[in-house]
Amino acid sequence: MTALTVNDRPVEFAMDPETPLLWALRDAANLTGTKYGCGVGDCGACMVIVDGEALRSCLITLAEAEGRFVTTIEGLSRDRSHPVQQALVAEQAIQCGFCTPGIAMAAAALIARNPDPSDSEIKAAIPNLCRCGVYPRLVRAVQRAGRVARRLERISAAPAPGISAEDAAREVPAMAAPDPAEGD
Ligand code: FES
Ligand code: FES
Repeated sequence: MTALTVNDRPVEFAMDPETPLLWALRDAANLTGTKYGCGVGDCGACMVIVDGEALRSCLITLAEAEGRFVTTIEGLSRDRSHPVQQALVAEQAIQCGFCTPGIAMAAAALIARNPDPSDSEIKAAIPNLCRCGVYPRLVRAVQRAGRVARRLERISAAPAPGISAEDAAREVPAMAAPDPAEGD
C-alpha cells in the first residue's frame, strides 16, 4: 500500500509503487480530469500540484508521491470558483480543453506563490503545450487570475457545466454516477 493525500483525503493505493502517479489518479482513483498527453514529460497535460508545486504526474511514481499532498483539477475548487478557473473562462482561454486541467494546475501553483507574474514568469512557469494555441489568452487569463486573487477585481462565477452526472458517466464509462437513493 502506498499512502498519500489526494484532494485533502487520505488514500491508500494497492498498486505497484512504480506505477506513475498519473495512472493511479486516473485508473484507480477515477480522477480523469488529469490528462494523458505524451507520457514522457513534454506536454504538461498531466500536471497536478504536489506539496504546492506543479509537477507532471506521468513522471512521478506512486512511491515518490508517498506521504505527499496531491491536488488534482477536481480538488482545485468544488464549483469552478478558483480565480484561475474563472479567468480562463472569462478570457476564453479554452478551446478543445484537453490541455486545460494541466494548465490550470500550473497556473494555480504560480498564482499561489506569485499573484502578480510578468509575461516571462508566466511563460516559464506554464510550459504546457496547447495544440489549439491559446497562449496569448492564457497570459491574459493568468494575470487576470492574479488580480482576482489580490482582490483587485471580481469575475462572476463560471457557467455551470450543463451536463448531468448521469450523462457524464455515460461519456466516461469508468465513472459511476452517484446513486441519488444513497445520498452523499
Ligand atoms: S502526459 Fe505527462 S507531460 Fe505529457
Ligand atoms: S485548448 Fe486545445 S490543446 Fe489547449
